[in-house]
Amino acid sequence: MALLEQSDRNGNVYRIRDAVPEDAPFIVEILTKVGQEGIYIANEGHYMSAEQQAQVLVRRDPEIHLILVAEQGSRIVGTLEMVRGIFQKNRHTANFGMALAPEGRGRGLGEGLLLAGHDWARQLAIQKICLSVFSSNQAAIRLYTRLGYEEEGRRKNQFLLNGSWADEILMACYLSVAPAP
Ligand SMILES: CC(C)(COP(=O)(O)OP(=O)(O)OC[C@H]1O[C@@H](n2cnc3c(N)ncnc32)[C@H](O)[C@@H]1OP(=O)(O)O)[C@@H](O)C(=O)NCCC(=O)NCCS
Repeated sequence: MALLEQSDRNGNVYRIRDAVPEDAPFIVEILTKVGQEGIYIANEGHYMSAEQQAQVLVRRDPEIHLILVAEQGSRIVGTLEMVRGIFQKNRHTANFGMALAPEGRGRGLGEGLLLAGHDWARQLAIQKICLSVFSSNQAAIRLYTRLGYEEEGRRKNQFLLNGSWADEILMACYLSVAPAP
């Protein structure tokens, strides 16, 4: 996708663009740190190496696999990964995960990243976008609900986060006007 420039809630410009191999160390740093926070994503801080991430970026098929970064100034503060189903049976779907560094949160960058992911999906005629989120992650659930996602499944007590149980909530959003099958 082309570079997208927009303003955050404080009026500061940020950019959303396709990740390139040179972004790999910054993507790994964000996902490692967010993993170490322990309450937002399943990864526990042992994410792939920067070299492995760079290889993923070199090899990715742009019709199957989207990796975006959100950049403010010269700093990458967020990333989104969306992967389309690879079979005829599920190529109308895509799953995504996203994470902002702590300093990138609360300013609308999450919405910017996800809407850019929707644009990519629409261009490929992907109709259904899916995700999994911890029931304790109210900021994420609010964002997804505001953008049209609805709960379609729940695995109870699927995660233990700092001593408290959390459900895994499966959410999905339909992008096209075509009715759900
Ligand atoms: C989840 C995340 C992507 C949201 O992006 P963001 O740009 O920070 O989102 P916003 O600031 O627009 O916040 C989303 C909503 O949650 C609300 N919110 C923020 N913190 C909250 C909290 N602690 N409790 C409840 N609501 C909260 C905001 O007011 C906003 O509400 P609105 O949609 O009604 O305006 C981002 O915070 C993040 O990366 N968090 C850490 C990693 C993570 O959780 N990834 C997603 C895993 S599924």
